[in-house]
Amino acid sequence: MTDARVALVTGGNRGLGFEIVRQLAQTGMKTVLASRDAEKGRVAAQQLAGANVQTAIVALDVNDAASIDAAVAEIVRLNGRLDVLVNNAGISLDGSRAAVAGVLEVSPEIARQTYETNVLGPMRLIQAIAPHMRERRYGRIVNVSSRMGQLSGMGARSPGYRMSKAALNALTRVAAAEFERDGIKVNAMHPGWVRTDMGGSSAPVSVQEGADTAVWLATLADDGPTGEFFENRKAIAW
Ligand SMILES: NC(=O)c1ccc[n+]([C@@H]2O[C@H](COP(=O)([O-])OP(=O)(O)OC[C@H]3O[C@@H](n4cnc5c(N)ncnc54)[C@H](OP(=O)(O)O)[C@@H]3O)[C@@H](O)[C@H]2O)c1
Repeated sequence: MTDARVALVTGGNRGLGFEIVRQLAQTGMKTVLASRDAEKGRVAAQQLAGANVQTAIVALDVNDAASIDAAVAEIVRLNGRLDVLVNNAGISLDGSRAAVAGVLEVSPEIARQTYETNVLGPMRLIQAIAPHMRERRYGRIVNVSSRMGQLSGMGARSPGYRMSKAALNALTRVAAAEFERDGIKVNAMHPGWVRTDMGGSSAPVSVQEGADTAVWLATLADDGPTGEFFENRKAIAW
């Protein structure tokens, strides 16, 4: 049993997930960097170790229920706890600037794949982890969403990605309502348009800035908010 809180970050091998792991580890938490490709996870952890940041690693594909169950069982066996889940892994198949599609062009198959990873993935993670959080009456769940899923500001193009993030926001609200009395806080956040493989090199926001709100939500005090959507640590409209 570890005294430090234990945090699992999906898609931790690159981009925002990698930076969220780095910042969470620096708060003193025990981090578990999840990567669907075990070798990429090892390389990422080595890179962090080179900067004096230690993290555990686990192989986890959010589309594979068996890999989620095995990873969660292993983390709980080794640490006796799992306090924080950052649902960061995500894909944007119709959202890249190179091949941006509209409602008339997007294939149902692209929309389905995006939903599978961006919505059912986080849902599976919550289903696997929230029961452990409930037992200990403590949990912080952060869903890395996007303003592209914001219904109040919805724009054109990238319908597969937009629909998936709107659904992730709905999942955030449902889970927050269900776990309200269990000490588990569930929030969604928009990181900004961030310089990652997904965001591209001309994005204005660094990964350090983009990760900040996720890390803040992962470390909320007991009187902190739940069931809200944040950008730059401020609540925004759904
Ligand atoms: N960058 C932005 O401007 C921006 C803006 C708003 C929201 N977001 C959101 O922020 C999150 C992180 O984005 P990013 O910019 O860091 O993207 P990224 O650089 O493309 O990284 C995506 C990460 O997700 C992982 N992943 C994808 N499918 C997975 C699966 N089935 N199982 C496990 N891991 C999987 C990738 O793993 P592999 O290396 O194995 O592919 C990678 O680690 C996403 O949810 C994204 O929608 C990003």
